[in-house]
Amino acid sequence: MDFLGIETSCDETSASVIDERGEVRSNVIASQIARHQPFGGVVPEIASREHLEHLMPTLRRALEDSGTCLEAIDVIAVTAGPGLIGALLVGVAAAQGLSYGLGKPLVPVNHLEGHIFSPYLRLSGEATPLPPRFLTLVVSGGHSSVYDVRNGDVWMLNRTRDDAAGEVFDKVGKFVGLPYPAGPHVDRIARHGDATRFRFPLAQFKDDSPDFSFSGLKSTAIRLAREQRIAVSDPETAENDRDVADFCASFQRAIGDQILDRLERLWRRVEETEDELPGELGLAGGVAANSSLRERIAGWCAQRGITVRLAERRYCTDNAAMIAFAGLQKWKRGGTHDPRRVAARSRMPAGVITEAS
Ligand code: KG4
Ligand code: ZN
Repeated sequence: MDFLGIETSCDETSASVIDERGEVRSNVIASQIARHQPFGGVVPEIASREHLEHLMPTLRRALEDSGTCLEAIDVIAVTAGPGLIGALLVGVAAAQGLSYGLGKPLVPVNHLEGHIFSPYLRLSGEATPLPPRFLTLVVSGGHSSVYDVRNGDVWMLNRTRDDAAGEVFDKVGKFVGLPYPAGPHVDRIARHGDATRFRFPLAQFKDDSPDFSFSGLKSTAIRLAREQRIAVSDPETAENDRDVADFCASFQRAIGDQILDRLERLWRRVEETEDELPGELGLAGGVAANSSLRERIAGWCAQRGITVRLAERRYCTDNAAMIAFAGLQKWKRGGTHDPRRVAARSRMPAGVITEAS
C-alpha cells in the first residue's frame, strides 16, 4: 500500500510517498526560505502564494521519484493544523480534491504528530517499529513540548509558556546579524566557541513546573550581545570571530541546559508516579537537528538506560514523509475522514483533529 503525504503548514511545500511499513519512497521539499529571508521571518501571504505555485510540481516529483502514480496511491494524508491558516488551506484543499476525485481515503494529520512519530523514520528501509509507549521531545520553530505516546494516543507532558526554542535561536541570531533561520548558523558557529564564556540564568518557576520558558534567555542574550557588541559581519566566516563563536556556544549551551533540566524534572515525576517507565525517548522538530542538543540528549538517555531515537536530520525540519507516517499510524487505527469534512485549523493541540462542523 502507498500513502501520499502533503505538508504546507509553514514555509516548506512538501510531498512524500511511503509504504505501509513506513519505508520512505520519496520525500520532496520545496523550501521557501530564500523568499522569506529578506524579511527576517516567515511572511504568511508569501507562504500561501508560494505553496500555491509549488504544490503541484512538488506532488508530481514525489510521485515520479517513488515510481508510482496518483491512481496507485491508496491513502492520502495531509497536515490539517496547527500552522498558518492560508498555508494549510492550500494543502488541505488539494488533498480534499484528490481524495474526492480519486475516491481514496483522506487522513487529516496533526503537524505535531508528524514530528512526534518522525524519530522512527529511517533514511532507507522500513521504519523502526513503534513501541507501545515512548516519549518524544519536539523542539521546533513553533513548539517545544515533551509528549507521552501510549498505543498511539498522545499526551502533552509540558509546554513552553512563551517562545519556542527555534524561535529564540532565530530571534537572537537575527539580532547579531545572522540570516533567517539562524538555528543552523548558530549550530555551526558554536562548534568553534567556548560555551563557558558567557553565563545565562536557568529559568525557574515558583511551582517547580517542568514547563519551558525561553523568553528570559532571549532577553538576556540580546542584552549581552548589545553590551559586548557581538555582531556578525559575514555569516559564512563568523566562526573565526572569537566573540561571536563564544556567544553562540554559550547561548546554545543555555538552551540545552534548560531542555535537560526540564527533561530531568519530567523523568523524576514519571519515576515517582509510575511502575513502568517509558523505554524510548525521541528527539524531533527543527531544533532536533542541533548537533550539541543531539549529543546531550543521547548522553542523558544513555545514563538512564533509555533508548534514544534522534530523528534523522532530513526529518527534523518540516517534511511530508513524517506527515505520511503519522497518517499511516492514524489509518491503522481507523482514522479516515470524509474529505468534505476535513478542516484546516491554525490552532490544534497534539492528539486532536477537529472536523469541520
Ligand atoms: O520544525 P521546523 O522546520 O518548523 C516548525 O514546525 O516550526 O523548525 C524550524 C526551526 C527554526 O527555528 C530553525 O532555526 C531551527 O528549527 N533549526 C535549528 C537547527 N536547524 C533548524 N536550530 C538549532 N540548530 C539547528 N541545527
Ligand atoms: Zn514543524
